[in-house]
Amino acid sequence: MKYRRLGRTDIEVSAVAMGCWALAGGHTWGSQDEADSIATVHAALDAGVNFFDTAEGYGDGYSEEVLGRALKGRRHETVVATKVSRRNLAHDAVLQACERSLRRLQTDVIDLYQIHWPGRTVPLAETFAALEKLRDQGKVRAIGMSNFGIGDLTDLLTIGHCQTDQLPYSLLWRAIEHEIQPKCVDESIGILCYSPLMQGLLTGKYTSPDEVPDGRARTRHFSKDRPSVRHGEPGCEAETFAAIARVRQISASVGESMAKVSVAWLLAQPGVNAVLAGARKPEQIRETAQAAALTLAPETIEALTEATEKVKQLLGTSPDIWGGKAEGRFR
Ligand SMILES: NC(=O)c1ccc[n+]([C@@H]2O[C@H](COP(=O)([O-])OP(=O)(O)OC[C@H]3O[C@@H](n4cnc5c(N)ncnc54)[C@H](OP(=O)(O)O)[C@@H]3O)[C@@H](O)[C@H]2O)c1
Repeated sequence: MKYRRLGRTDIEVSAVAMGCWALAGGHTWGSQDEADSIATVHAALDAGVNFFDTAEGYGDGYSEEVLGRALKGRRHETVVATKVSRRNLAHDAVLQACERSLRRLQTDVIDLYQIHWPGRTVPLAETFAALEKLRDQGKVRAIGMSNFGIGDLTDLLTIGHCQTDQLPYSLLWRAIEHEIQPKCVDESIGILCYSPLMQGLLTGKYTSPDEVPDGRARTRHFSKDRPSVRHGEPGCEAETFAAIARVRQISASVGESMAKVSVAWLLAQPGVNAVLAGARKPEQIRETAQAAALTLAPETIEALTEATEKVKQLLGTSPDIWGGKAEGRFR
């Protein structure tokens, strides 16, 4: 495993982190067995992963609870990131949400506390003051944002700084490259890449859109005719699956799995601090963790970039994976 400094802090995090959303199961992921979840966290630790990302919003706190149970006795080896939900951004609500997360995680400090989505009803300065208070009290070590676009980051930078911005970034979701990534690089804000495997599309398990379960076929790659889709757009299923086929070929040509190659590509991109790889089974995180040791040749990186360029252009500049271009929640 390779380790990097989290933002400008002295906290060392594994380049491949484990994302714990799927541990909550639910509509997107389907049922998830807790014993599998705990075994997956232990496999991550054994593979050198020390960085775990969760949120109070994942299964209404259940993901945090499972992570807390899984890390019992090994919490000191880890860096735990969680998030306060958009509904809890008023000053006192942030303080109370943090206490609840600490309890569920069975810890007395959150290493990275992030605003999950910008709220824009409570003044950002009010939320930020609460986060700083928690840091001053020693309940939080570092402050991060998530889903902050140029407008929200600019507002933030007038009142303070954050160590990281957690953003959707993968070979099949490159919208942040247009503006947000360069801004993060300029401002020394570390990028934490979420949904790096595009929720399984980049693992090679699906060869056509029809094979993708409905809970995962809600992103803007898929047609508005799929159930539960809220973006109202035609999607770009044919181009997405053509890009996946090309990524499969390139991965085979270097003798590596698509999942590893996809994560290694991200780790080679500017400003990327860590990749939050979701996993529900031990073998999944064992595989993606190995991507930290995989250095792709410049021509392989270029070929992968080229293979997904058309999808990038078709999806446009809105980084919102699920919301239509018109109601995109990024600003
Ligand atoms: N800040 C935000 O708004 C936000 C939003 C989304 C995600 N996140 C964070 O980012 C993390 C990762 O994103 P994600 O969970 O959406 O998606 P992801 O990492 O792109 O995909 C994870 C899923 O892919 C499958 N998978 C993983 N490794 C595999 C392997 N080696 N071989 C085959 N299949 C494999 C697993 O599902 P199956 O086995 O079911 O196929 C797994 O749950 C989340 O857990 C969360 O921490 C944050």
